[in-house]
Amino acid sequence: MSLSQNHAIDVARVIPLKPSPEECALLRASLLRPMPEIPPRYFYDDPGSELFERITDLSVYYQTRTEIGILERWAPTIIEAANPRHIVELGSGAGRKIRLIFDAWGDRRRGGRCTMLDINELFLRQSIERLESDYPGCQYRGVVGDFTRDLDRLGPAGQRLILFFAGTIGNLYPEERQIFLSGLAATMPPGDAFLVGVDLVKDKVRLEAAYNDPEGVTAEFNRNILAVVNRRFDANFVPDHFRHRAFYDSVNDWIEMRLTADRAMVVHLGALSMDLSFAEGSEIRTEISCKFTRQSLAATAAGADLAIDGWYTDPEELFALALLRKREG
Ligand code: AVJ
Repeated sequence: MSLSQNHAIDVARVIPLKPSPEECALLRASLLRPMPEIPPRYFYDDPGSELFERITDLSVYYQTRTEIGILERWAPTIIEAANPRHIVELGSGAGRKIRLIFDAWGDRRRGGRCTMLDINELFLRQSIERLESDYPGCQYRGVVGDFTRDLDRLGPAGQRLILFFAGTIGNLYPEERQIFLSGLAATMPPGDAFLVGVDLVKDKVRLEAAYNDPEGVTAEFNRNILAVVNRRFDANFVPDHFRHRAFYDSVNDWIEMRLTADRAMVVHLGALSMDLSFAEGSEIRTEISCKFTRQSLAATAAGADLAIDGWYTDPEELFALALLRKREG
C-alpha cells in the first residue's frame, strides 16, 4: 500500500509539476530587486536536501548537534510544559529531531496526532514512514508545503505543540517573520505552544566559519539552488560560473549567502520569458540567516502577541530553543 493511501498526504500546492503564474511572478520580482535574490526554499530539491544533511555533520556547523544536545536535555521538560495531543513540525527535513520529542512524549502519544510539513516530498514521506514504524499508535499526516503560506493546513488546534527547528525562522526577513509569527499566533488558542530553534548572536569568526566550510559543502549547497531554478523555470544558469560567498552582517544580525558571478554572462529563464545580465562580480542573494538574542526574540514574538514561556540553551549559549505561547489577555 502506498503512503498516500495510508496517510492522506496533501500533494504540493507549492511545488506543483509546473510553477504557477504566481510562483513565476514571485521569482521574477526577487530577481529584479536591486540585489537579485532567489528565495531559499529552492535549496531543497532532493540533492539540495542531501547536501543540507551533509552540512549538519560538518564540525564548523555547530547548530544541529547543539540543538540535538538541548533537546536531549530538555525534551521531557518541554513535553511536561506543553502537554500536547497533537505535535506539528514545520520544515521537518530528515525528521530526526522530532524523535527526541517523541521519546519524551512516550506512551502519551497513543491516540494523538502528528503533522509534518516540508517542501521536499521525498524527505517528508521517508520521515513519516520511519516515525510511524518506530512510534505507532499516533495518527500521522504529511503536508507538502511552505511554512510561509500553508499554516491553514496544520490540522486541529488546541493542545498542539508546534515545532520549528534548526533556526529556519532566521531565513525570513524581519517583515516576513512578523507576518509568519502573527499568522501562526492567529491559529493558536491559549493551550497551543510553539517551540522554535534560534541560532544565537556570537563571535563573527565562528558564525562565518559555519557558512564557509573547508570542504566546500556549503558552496555546493549554495550553487545547487541554480540547478533547481534551471529545472523548475527552464533556465540556463551555469552553477560553476558562480562563487559561494557568506558573511555576517552585524548591523542586521544575519548571515548572508550570495553567489558571485565569476564572469559576465546572460542567463535565460524560459518560464519567466526573461533574460538576466550579470557583470563579472555581480551577485545573487540566496539566503539570510538571522541570529537572535533572548531579548531580540522576545521583541519579535511580542509583535505577534507571543511571549517566551521557556528558554532552553546549551552551556556555551550557541543556540536556543524558545517555547512561545499566546500572551495573556
Ligand atoms: C537550517 C535552514 C536555517 O541558515 O543555517 C546551512 C541553512 N544555509 N548552511 C541556516 C543553511 C547554509 C540553515 N537553516
